[in-house]
Amino acid sequence: MTSLSNSILWQRMHEYYSQLGTEVWIDEVVPQQITNNTYLANNYAKQIVAQIQDYILAHGKPDDLPFYIFEIGAGHGRLSFYLLENLRQAFEVFEWPKKWLKFIMTDISLKSLESWQTHHALKPFIDEGWLDIAVFNADRDTELKLAISGQHLKVNSINKPLFVICNYIFDTLAQDAFQVINHRLHEVELVIKNADKIEKGDLKDYFKDAQYEFVKHPVDTNYYSENPVLNKILQDYETESENAAFLMPIGAIMCIENLKKFTNGPVMFLVSDKGVTDKDLFEENDDPDISFHGSVSMMVNFDALRRYTELCGGNCLLMGDKGADFQVANFIFQTDYKIPNTTYTFTNSLSCFSPQDLFDICYIDDEPITKFTSLESIVNILNLAEWDPSIFYDYHEQVIEKLENDAITVGVQHSILNGLERAWRYFFKLEKSQDLPFAIGSTLYNMGFNEKAIEFYNYSLEFFGKDKDTYFNLTLAYQALGNYVKAQEMINESLKIASKNKALAELQKEIESLQVI
Ligand SMILES: C[S@@+](CC[C@H](N)C(=O)[O-])C[C@H]1O[C@@H](n2cnc3c(N)ncnc32)[C@H](O)[C@@H]1O
Repeated sequence: MTSLSNSILWQRMHEYYSQLGTEVWIDEVVPQQITNNTYLANNYAKQIVAQIQDYILAHGKPDDLPFYIFEIGAGHGRLSFYLLENLRQAFEVFEWPKKWLKFIMTDISLKSLESWQTHHALKPFIDEGWLDIAVFNADRDTELKLAISGQHLKVNSINKPLFVICNYIFDTLAQDAFQVINHRLHEVELVIKNADKIEKGDLKDYFKDAQYEFVKHPVDTNYYSENPVLNKILQDYETESENAAFLMPIGAIMCIENLKKFTNGPVMFLVSDKGVTDKDLFEENDDPDISFHGSVSMMVNFDALRRYTELCGGNCLLMGDKGADFQVANFIFQTDYKIPNTTYTFTNSLSCFSPQDLFDICYIDDEPITKFTSLESIVNILNLAEWDPSIFYDYHEQVIEKLENDAITVGVQHSILNGLERAWRYFFKLEKSQDLPFAIGSTLYNMGFNEKAIEFYNYSLEFFGKDKDTYFNLTLAYQALGNYVKAQEMINESLKIASKNKALAELQKEIESLQVI
């Protein structure tokens, strides 16, 4: 038997992500919305800005070497883009020179790197020199070879606060499992009962088909021979709890230690994941929960990470709402100055409302809420969501339905136009099914902004390819403008794709008759 962290599970997980790259999100196999929204990116950006302000307060104007932001396990890159776009605006407002910032997207998957280099939203940041990319294995690597600039970042390469974004990654890294039974520590080991059988199958099915069994046996609290800090946490759990089941995020801690090596100065880990923030919330005697979603993941023990940070002399900022499943935290190491801006910004932003609340308000069982009595009430919810592009996309059909049936006030029209402008600024093509420009174009058409609608339908063709519905809608928009020649052209394109479609044939006839007049 082996400890959970030495299980073959983690090796298979690395292989899963390395082999599939961004495909798992394009096909919507691995969930990403709760960690990839403009609301969360906005919170991260505020933390980074506040920490730069704290640094300037303590050290005066920085030299020209950049503040580095490393994103670990960046995956598809949507969060990186949201954060970069937000920071671009912040740097303009604060009049901070661009050379102060270098964002490094990293992942274990080389395939992801290849997709970032050509992505419409990321490429401009690469071209401007703000963004570089690298392969990085969080629980092993201590160096970074940047793929664009060729720069090599090593131990103590960085002389400013280093920001590390760990978004939905700690739950993917190795864990150990323990249980305290009558104040006595036990290790919980994992056995994959059908390991031999699933090894022969397709990796995509590995996690779905795996049958798990957990086996417990008593262990000494000096379990981690090379890490007394972790042993102290085990001892404290054993003393403080009569019965408790918990995980030790050993992969996350290795990741933290590997990244701390890049600098002698402050390192700030902005972490979001589903997890537990207090030992009082531990189950008494449950087996570890392995959740399946293409690959697998496990809850992150934020309480252990807090204890670890504080035992290492660092600061830990946790959300006010300890009960939320989805947590955001800031673990800060090696600061030699006070951090009032960082602390105030975190506690002020995340004292009660959090990303989990936003998603619980916007969705029931993963579906957008229906039964709104007015357009204004849908706009209210979208304003709360800061017109996050994915949330707007999920609501756009309801917006259009209300626009078709209800009168719109000038005030609500302004709100929608402001929201659409924001949703478009954060457009990041990922899911095949989420044609944001089509949704914006259709909303604008239903508000009577035909020329603007045409502009967005054309973006839809550019990003999502030729589609009969897009050409159909273009026909309607040109028809509304009285441009029957273009309307004819568009309906003909539509019929090239769906020659037997009755609705298209009828519209073609109507346009032809209008042209004769
Ligand atoms: C659950 S996904 C999260 C992706 C993205 N950060 C998000 O919030 O949607 C985990 C990501 O971590 C990467 N990953 C897995 N193991 C890793 C490791 N040991 N080091 C670095 N990245 C890893 C995967 O390739 C994948 O992109």
